[in-house]
Amino acid sequence: MPKSLISIQDFSKDEILHILDVAQEFEANREQNFLAGKVVACLFFEPSTRTRLSFEAAVNRLGARVIGFPDNRNTSQTKGETLEDTIKIVSNYVDMIVMRHPMAGAADIAASVASVPVINAGDGANQHPTQTLLDLYSIKKTQGRLEGLEIDMVGDLKYGRAVHSLVEALRHFSPKFTFTSPEELNMPKKYLEMLDNDGIPYRQVDRIEDGLDTCDILYMTRVQQERFPDMDEYNKVKDVYRLTASMLDGVKPGMKIMHPLPRVNEIATDVDDTPYAYYFQQAGGGMYVRMAIISYLLGFR
Ligand code: CP
Repeated sequence: MPKSLISIQDFSKDEILHILDVAQEFEANREQNFLAGKVVACLFFEPSTRTRLSFEAAVNRLGARVIGFPDNRNTSQTKGETLEDTIKIVSNYVDMIVMRHPMAGAADIAASVASVPVINAGDGANQHPTQTLLDLYSIKKTQGRLEGLEIDMVGDLKYGRAVHSLVEALRHFSPKFTFTSPEELNMPKKYLEMLDNDGIPYRQVDRIEDGLDTCDILYMTRVQQERFPDMDEYNKVKDVYRLTASMLDGVKPGMKIMHPLPRVNEIATDVDDTPYAYYFQQAGGGMYVRMAIISYLLGFR
């Protein structure tokens, strides 16, 4: 079976650091054409702006070509074709599959039947490993290191797949966590147990003010409306946190605010002009990181 990236645990610490190094190389020179002749399928069964477009840009910058779809309304899944059959067919046409799907575990299913590498571009509330690699790229760039940082994750820690993957990856780098969420959106037990087993310290708070002054990275997240089974429950928590510029007095000078985006109302636009805002640059680095991931999984770096 070819090597795929389904969960961030599919990459060792050394592989993660290698991807970050290669991404830096590509950022210094983004016109790379060594994948000419390759074809990559980008299959998006769920909406995306950043992930799909940065993957497609990455494929183009590497000299390969892209096929695929931004939603599945015009595919034969509407006639009842299974995900497994779709993936088996697409495997015949391409050298790699990038897939986003609303169902947790869908990427794993795809990899189990694909004859080419599969990259998980987000599967339900489960994992978003390429987001994590670009998050680590931003953390390293802004803090000068990955080791020993204090990370405050804020918002929807229950359904946010980006924070799930990031917690798993940061276990390699001796972090200290603050998890800021209302009880309904707490980090799932599975991840807390993982940290307990590794002896990694964390605290759970529900006020955003509690973690602001000591963190190196403030990782804000959107409340994931599309994952809530009950809209009344969503309405209760949708406006729970709103970060404004006036709340940032007293934070560490080098602190950076990150967010996987899209944002809704959890970061006021007056934060954008502060020296702490890093979310737009964070998304920009995604293309280089995805160029590095594609190159690595195809055996070229
Ligand atoms: N961060 C992220 O996954 O954004 P998109 O949903 O726009 O791809």
